[in-house]
Amino acid sequence: MNSIIAIDGPSASGKSTVSRKVAEGLGYIHVDSGAIYRALTWQIIRDGLAGASPEAIIRHLPSVTLRFFVEEGALRFTINDVDPGAAIRSLAVQEQVSAVAAIPEVRAWVGERLRSLKTLGDLVVEGRDIGSVVFPEAAFKFYLDADPEERARRRYLEQQALAGNKTNPDEVKRALLRRDACDQSRSTAPLVMAPGARRIETTRLTIEGVAAQVFEMIRAAPPKRLPKAVKQDGFIPFVYHLSRVFFLCYLWIFHRYRTHDRKHLPPRGGCILVSNHASFLDPIAVCCNIWNRHIYFLARDTLFQQSRFMKWWAISVGTLPIDRTKGDIRALKGAITLVRQGNILCLFPEGTRTHDGRLQSVKAGIGFLIEKAGVPVIPAYVSGTFEAFPRDAHKIKFHKIDTYFGKPVTPADCAVFKDDPDRHQKIADMVMARIAALNPAGKDVTENRGAGESAQHA
Ligand code: DC
Repeated sequence: MNSIIAIDGPSASGKSTVSRKVAEGLGYIHVDSGAIYRALTWQIIRDGLAGASPEAIIRHLPSVTLRFFVEEGALRFTINDVDPGAAIRSLAVQEQVSAVAAIPEVRAWVGERLRSLKTLGDLVVEGRDIGSVVFPEAAFKFYLDADPEERARRRYLEQQALAGNKTNPDEVKRALLRRDACDQSRSTAPLVMAPGARRIETTRLTIEGVAAQVFEMIRAAPPKRLPKAVKQDGFIPFVYHLSRVFFLCYLWIFHRYRTHDRKHLPPRGGCILVSNHASFLDPIAVCCNIWNRHIYFLARDTLFQQSRFMKWWAISVGTLPIDRTKGDIRALKGAITLVRQGNILCLFPEGTRTHDGRLQSVKAGIGFLIEKAGVPVIPAYVSGTFEAFPRDAHKIKFHKIDTYFGKPVTPADCAVFKDDPDRHQKIADMVMARIAALNPAGKDVTENRGAGESAQHA
């Protein structure tokens, strides 16, 4: 299998030169993923869609064709049969590229094309989300950074070489900071340090110095083997999808089931799906209308002991057992590994089903897990399952069930609490508040403290 080295970081952190050097040194193919976003932006401008709405850009995507080829160890491409060359570095492209790259459908489009390059050979891929989303399985991940002053200086020199005296250092710096903010705050695949990435501070280093550090780390560490994925432990996709379709038909027929805003679920990459918990029907209400991805669940281990069939079924559909009587570190590590490997894990932060239909407060542990996993968290609110089948009920009522998905809580949102000793509780409360905010009834249905308070401000 071909090997991948992911090099991510903000603009002008030294990624491009270092990636090129590393690829050269190892005989790998160098892939500049930013160039693809730039080329697409260039094409969009060329086709008269400068500043167009995301919807117009999404509609335009099928008319764009990228063709890749390898020349002297580097990846080259044409877009609609033209090599845009240095035009992708123009100010016009520069100004629009972040907005284009923030559109989830554009990211999926580029991501798919980047992943297809795996068949070409060993790759060094540079970008913003390479280690976190595009190639979470990369053998080595690096995150290059430098302070903003230094990055602005580098970008200014680069632009001057391209545009002569026409550039203004302050304007270059403002544009760079604006772009950084946009790349870091977008909801899909924001610029974050991928789990397991090695950070290299390049402010005071030469390109050779940074490349030397990368080579040293590659030589020193054997490719990191992630613990065995759950997939290999008995998960059978066919059983999962058959069960999913069965439950979907059941919900459609008996509960007039609808899902809303599924677009918030990323088509690829690891994430955590969190939902309120009112009933045994919640897991199916959350996952069974999601067709393109498999969703893993954590379930108390006693479920696996109920019968041999139950054990087989739970394992086949990819459920992870967790011992709820103690802090089950093994299960939590497994869960973190799972999402870091690019999967979706669904969790019910409240732990148990509500007794009265109101949301319950959450423990800090969930915030710890979210912080450690370092992936987007998608909130979901299931309504109607409490009325249909609350705890202690013996019969299911034919009540309407709806599931609402919300915008992801990004690692950047969680980083706001970075140095706060109570950050895990605050992250947990923030996530719970996002779930509460999806309640279409719009009222504060939270039981107590934290989550309820924050729900008012969500
Ligand atoms: O690395 P660069 O400056 O050429 O990137 C151009 C733009 O593309 C930048 O705004 C960030 C975006 N980009 C991205 O969102 N994801 C990537 N993997 C690479 C670039």
